[in-house]
Amino acid sequence: MDKQSANKLARELHELINTYNYEYNVLDKPSVPDSEYDRLMQELLKLEEAFPELKTSDSPTQRVGGTVLAAFQKVVHKTPMLSLGNAFNEADLRDFDRRVKQSVGDDVQYVVELKIDGLAVSLRYENGLFVQGATRGDGTTGEDITENLKTIRSIPLRLKKELSFEVRGEAFMPKKSFEKLNELRLQLEEEPFANPRNAAAGSIRQLDPKIAAKRNLDIFVYSIADLGGTGVEKHSEALDLLEEVGFKTNQERRKCETIEEVLTIIEDLQEKRANLSYDIDGIVIKVDSLAQQEELGFTAKSPRWAIAYKFPAEEVMTKLVDIELSVGRTGVITPTALLEPVRVAGTTVQRASLHNEDLIREKDIKIGDTVVVKKAGDIIPEVVNVLIDLRTGEEQTFSMPTHCPACESELVRIEGEVALRCINPQCPAQIKEGLIHFVSRNAMNIDGLGERVVAQLFQEGLIKDVADLYRLTRDQLLELERMGEKSTDNLLNAIVQSKENSLERLLFGLGIRHVGAKAAKTLAQEFETIEILQQATKDELIAINEIGDKMADAVVTYFDNPDVQYLVNELKSLGVNTTYKGPKLIRVEDSDSYLAGKTVVLTGKLEQLSRNEAKEGIEALGGKVTGSVSKSTDLVVAGESAGSKLKKAQELNIEIWDEARLFDELNK
Ligand code: IVH
Repeated sequence: MDKQSANKLARELHELINTYNYEYNVLDKPSVPDSEYDRLMQELLKLEEAFPELKTSDSPTQRVGGTVLAAFQKVVHKTPMLSLGNAFNEADLRDFDRRVKQSVGDDVQYVVELKIDGLAVSLRYENGLFVQGATRGDGTTGEDITENLKTIRSIPLRLKKELSFEVRGEAFMPKKSFEKLNELRLQLEEEPFANPRNAAAGSIRQLDPKIAAKRNLDIFVYSIADLGGTGVEKHSEALDLLEEVGFKTNQERRKCETIEEVLTIIEDLQEKRANLSYDIDGIVIKVDSLAQQEELGFTAKSPRWAIAYKFPAEEVMTKLVDIELSVGRTGVITPTALLEPVRVAGTTVQRASLHNEDLIREKDIKIGDTVVVKKAGDIIPEVVNVLIDLRTGEEQTFSMPTHCPACESELVRIEGEVALRCINPQCPAQIKEGLIHFVSRNAMNIDGLGERVVAQLFQEGLIKDVADLYRLTRDQLLELERMGEKSTDNLLNAIVQSKENSLERLLFGLGIRHVGAKAAKTLAQEFETIEILQQATKDELIAINEIGDKMADAVVTYFDNPDVQYLVNELKSLGVNTTYKGPKLIRVEDSDSYLAGKTVVLTGKLEQLSRNEAKEGIEALGGKVTGSVSKSTDLVVAGESAGSKLKKAQELNIEIWDEARLFDELNK
């Protein structure tokens, strides 16, 4: 056979195999027996052996790659992967409806969808070819799991149109595959997975795509991240388009005209839950119009145009066997209930935080009690109440200790706080927790350094403070339990990589009182280097919008401490970056634009600019964009068919621009 006919044959085989694959895996309606599919695959494999150049990345033979990865590469999401706000009852849903209508007026349609219980993934296509897939990670940075995603047969490697976009969806393991997998694991004396979601997550993070391929994962896609040139105007149209070009979307979706209709449909769907072949953990309600979605925008964490209705948590009874005490990073003593193991919402629960002494008193919890347990938000185990009638008289009242269970120094109750605290800065339990916090995902994000490894390193005396992490040697790590050559090298690599982190990660990781991830970002952005921050006075700190009195005090006190100054110097000499690397803050005084220092609200549909472009443009000139019109709004930019916000602006006599005026200002 010559090259040309081989090429032609390969393309015909692709087409047939893709069609059969689509019918089987997406439509669930096979039109040929498996043997025919296998025969075509064999033919294509043979052909590719003879003409290796035909092994293109979109060939159906390339679903299971040959190479085992050493580690996953990080992927920065162009559009962040956010999560949804929650509604737990009818009132929450009605509030959501009210908020939406307040913003965009009464003419709103909703789409109601199932909330698939798997893990969020992002799929990038260029000219119709699947080029990269990633996990959600922390929402900004995920991991490149392209090879594993290719093994999911309902993910098209080539679309029916040459689109370039990023698609979001939920990868999951069907209930049947989960049961089969666990049976097999039990036979092999391996630990079974707790639930299909964990099994899916474990499978998608396999470095060997051959293992992932055996796990029978599936996917439902639910949105396009960057609608770019698709011409779509509604979420429901986006779903139809996704379906049209070859994706698997969930068919249990409905359009609703009113919140009443939404409530009825939720009830219907809830009844269907048990009969579905996959797990769901709720229902998602989305505003259908994309213009309205844009207008509603986002809070820091989630879109204002959608909400997740979570099913009521399952409640079960068990015995509270004992109460254990732990010492947290800030010295707070937390009591934890030790429970007789019990299955709740798909996993076995044997511990539940009791938070503090007041809660134990309030709920009248005694050791030996029969208690009702649920998982709040279906994740965190919680003692709901005590079944007093089942008491035998043998139960014991619990009281908090007077001394730290880790270092035995006297505990104090700080005025105005419910928590009891150990205030010994040398307390080993606090130091260990501080180390665990330093390496955690939102702080220095050192892969491979889980709680277990940190605890071991601390126990062995190999790390006493966070600087010691950067002094660890290969030989030291190899001596630890369950650390092979490969995981040691990966870990060392991750430690070295973390030195390059931008300042906010280090600041958050250091665990300064009252400084959360968001405040750390603000501080890093404002002061740019740790040296400048170290010199900052309280007045300079509170001059910043988001920094309050308490935080300013905490920052000054922290950096006044000679031990901290020593530690910062050590970190610097070990090569840890102490400067801010993110987008620069535009200072109002550095901008000569009319928009500098102005609070701007965008409303209506913008034609020339996307809402994000408009926002970024305004911010780059020193302005601030907020969501709702109030007395403190300086300017409203009204696009086409602007509604209630424009009206409010007129009532309040606020300056109003059209899009063209904004466009001119941004392009001056
Ligand atoms: S829309 C901005 N639709 O639920 C976020 N999410 O907290 C938009 N999920 O991790 C998400 N089914 O992966 C959306 N039909 C659905 C979904 C869904 C499951 C997951 C999603 C995310 C979480 C939201």
